[in-house]
Amino acid sequence: MTDKISNPPVAGLNGLQKVILRTPSGYTAEVYTHGAHITKWTTPSGEDILFCSKQAIFSPPTAIRGGVPVCFPQFGDMGPCKAQHGFARNSTFEVTASTPFSVRMVLRSPTGDGSMLSPEFPAPFELTINVTVTDDAKLHQEMVVKNTAAEGDASAAPFSFTAALHTYFRLHNGIASASIEGLQGVKYLDSLQARKECIEENKTITFPGEVDRIYCGAPDELQIVDGGQDGKEEEERRVAVDKNGFNDVVVWNPAAEKAKKMKDFGDEEWKDMVCLEVAQAGSGAVELAPGKQWVGTQTLEISW
Ligand code: BG6
Repeated sequence: MTDKISNPPVAGLNGLQKVILRTPSGYTAEVYTHGAHITKWTTPSGEDILFCSKQAIFSPPTAIRGGVPVCFPQFGDMGPCKAQHGFARNSTFEVTASTPFSVRMVLRSPTGDGSMLSPEFPAPFELTINVTVTDDAKLHQEMVVKNTAAEGDASAAPFSFTAALHTYFRLHNGIASASIEGLQGVKYLDSLQARKECIEENKTITFPGEVDRIYCGAPDELQIVDGGQDGKEEEERRVAVDKNGFNDVVVWNPAAEKAKKMKDFGDEEWKDMVCLEVAQAGSGAVELAPGKQWVGTQTLEISW
């Protein structure tokens, strides 16, 4: 993408800025500058692929519940910030390039006036999120983290971070018939058992209750299966998730009890979503030397 803004932001909910992407055949996506947050991705017939809560709060610095929150500089509590998942999802990004079907948003620290974005993470960095939608039913998202300290500068130092693209997928047929494929044999940390180490024995992961797991060293190609009701194969929908750079994935569904405790999430909405988050988490933080950058990507592809 060239550094030209040919598709400028427009007013979204509560006057927040968003960029609307559209391909020639009618796939669309919406990306808010608040958190560089994708809130919507739809097919030409208008079907939502991502879940966004009806109770999501579009009011910074609250993170938006649904879509694809960007977790940086930490996933969960795996870093120096008090706020779960770091501060990127609570911060306003700058649009630095756009076309009708792609956008680049950037968050920098120190900011324009020289102050650090967060005293908890005082490293100089640039976080870039690139989003592209395509006519072949794909959404491509790239996260680039750069240590902007000058190489050779006496005060320049490496920094480390954990991260995730915390994607909420919409389930058209409900959580009872949903599953995730591709994680058999992978080690995971069970966040519901104080991150106890386990091995995934099942070919498909299903959701009989709350699930919150960090799969370490996960394969790059996974599938979300939105299974047909009563096993009807013709109703089955799949989204393929292809990651690169991120070593891990997180699988999460809050189930009924936790859903009730979340103020920006409907009590019954857990039935309509599942999170499969490409992450750099359980397998360790990324360390970045001055002047160096790290790139992680996910490509989501609809197949139905
Ligand atoms: C997931 C975590 O990534 O995010 C869960 O594994 C957490 O433990 C969930 O509950 C939602 O987090 P938050 O901060 O958006 O409510």
